[in-house]
Amino acid sequence: MNNVVVVGFMGSGKSTVGPLLAARLQRPFIDLDTVIESEAGMPLGGIFARDGEAGFRRREREAVERVTQREREVIAVGGGAPLNPDNWRRLRAGNCVVALTASRRTLAARLDGVRDRPLLEGGVDAALDQLLPARTPRYLAADLVIDTDPLTPVAVAEAIAGALPDGALERVEVRIPGAAHEITIGARLQGLIGPALRRVGVTGGVAIATDASVGPRHAPAVETALRAAGFHPQCHAFPSGEAAKTMDAVRDFYRFLGEHGIDRQGAVIALGGGAVGDAAGFAAATWLRGVPLLHLPTTLLAMVDSSIGGKNGINLEAGKNLVGTVHQPCAILIDTAYLETLPEREYRAAWAEIIKSGIIADTELFETVLKGRSAISARDPHLLQDVIARTCAVKARVVAADPFEQGDRAILNYGHTVGHALEAALGYGAIPHGEAVAWGMQVAADLSVSSGRCAPQTRDRQAEVLRAYGLLDTRPRIDRTRLLEAMRHDKKRRDGEIGWVLLEEIGRAVYGCRVAWSDVEASLDAVLPA
Ligand SMILES: NC(=O)c1ccc[n+]([C@@H]2O[C@H](COP(=O)([O-])OP(=O)(O)OC[C@H]3O[C@@H](n4cnc5c(N)ncnc54)[C@H](O)[C@@H]3O)[C@@H](O)[C@H]2O)c1
Ligand SMILES: [Zn+2]
Repeated sequence: MNNVVVVGFMGSGKSTVGPLLAARLQRPFIDLDTVIESEAGMPLGGIFARDGEAGFRRREREAVERVTQREREVIAVGGGAPLNPDNWRRLRAGNCVVALTASRRTLAARLDGVRDRPLLEGGVDAALDQLLPARTPRYLAADLVIDTDPLTPVAVAEAIAGALPDGALERVEVRIPGAAHEITIGARLQGLIGPALRRVGVTGGVAIATDASVGPRHAPAVETALRAAGFHPQCHAFPSGEAAKTMDAVRDFYRFLGEHGIDRQGAVIALGGGAVGDAAGFAAATWLRGVPLLHLPTTLLAMVDSSIGGKNGINLEAGKNLVGTVHQPCAILIDTAYLETLPEREYRAAWAEIIKSGIIADTELFETVLKGRSAISARDPHLLQDVIARTCAVKARVVAADPFEQGDRAILNYGHTVGHALEAALGYGAIPHGEAVAWGMQVAADLSVSSGRCAPQTRDRQAEVLRAYGLLDTRPRIDRTRLLEAMRHDKKRRDGEIGWVLLEEIGRAVYGCRVAWSDVEASLDAVLPA
């Protein structure tokens, strides 16, 4: 965990840069090939001669497994090791992988006269012809990619040190068929943006969409990192909050994209909360019928909820989120350092969704959130990283199973039938979305009990955690007729009937449940008495 793993082709400079980087970071340096040699008691050539390449690769797999158990080291790894999928998974787990690249010409010059590499026995040119094309795509999938051609080894080490995130990285796969991508969670991830764009073939202009509060604080670092990666970013500020999600604001952004010549080789980066994510996501989905989108969520809600799943939405006078598409991002980089500037009210806005995720699908997340109340409100970075990753994993699993919201994804709507109705009936903004959802979750849990699906203790445990997070402090006063009316207008109804998401136990919910109106009214009486 929290190692820096240096990969690259023979001659890319791993064994020169590795120790320099280790010294610069004050971490131990370890060279995987040296470990393998000393364990075998002979040089690589001897291992190849005696056991063949297969024997070497077996030793290499074992060494990778062992070495990646260490913490806070700089590990240089032989050129072929990352190609094995198990090695690659281990090298990436919790670690930052840095690839050193160089042009074929530079590599040939650096390898000229090198004698002790078994894979160079057929000559440098043959090795470069056969191995370089096969290995390069893997190197380019690293978190940081440093072109060593124009740099001295010291400058390479400096460039890596300047771009490294703080601490360990967590990763969550979003396995959407045809649009698979990854969520990376860590702190200070700017250096990862450029490589993430290059990986999906972005070579053109990059538009950073942000807003007036986030832009001045966080856009400059993003722009600097993109410039260092060879891009020419342009920054556009949407109005803050829901005002971003209007046709007018999107039209302004289209104009900006046109003026800066953003085409399909370019990309849109959404740097902001859910509002910027929705507006920029909608624009990216529709501009030239779709350009790549990368999310850099800056609110806790955007980190655990709105940036995942590809949905975006624009508000019309007739209602919220009435226009939208599904357009998956190419990557989501969750930089927890952004939370340092997030106002308390916005920070708290996500708690209901995090608790919801635990309740519908992850008992351990539920327990962590219940026990971690004070550390989470103090924004403890370690616990937050874990809680964010687990919450993302719940949503990623659900959306991968149902990218177009035809079935399973309904489960994420737990608490939202009554939650949305409360918001609509009270007037948007009268009560935070999270609190509305919390009351909605209590109604759903009560219905789950009255319909015999779960035990009363389960409902009470849910109330305990919601209360601990202050989400049930103020019971909204709401006219029952208006609430029922708003529920009848719910966008998610099918054939005129509400499909309820109900609870079986903590960690397991079911969707599409039909419930008699009299039971709904009884639960409303119990949870939200008029
Ligand atoms: N697409 C989806 O799947 C989905 C899911 C849930 C919610 N949403 C949408 O998300 C929106 C709400 O998102 P939100 O809660 O992130 O609110 P938001 O985007 O409106 O941001 C809240 C406020 O915090 C400010 N802010 C954001 N990050 C900051 C930071 N790091 N430091 C200082 N200030 C910061 C913003 O400028 C804004 O004023 C709603 O429009 C909702 O419809 C979409
Ligand atoms: Zn919600």
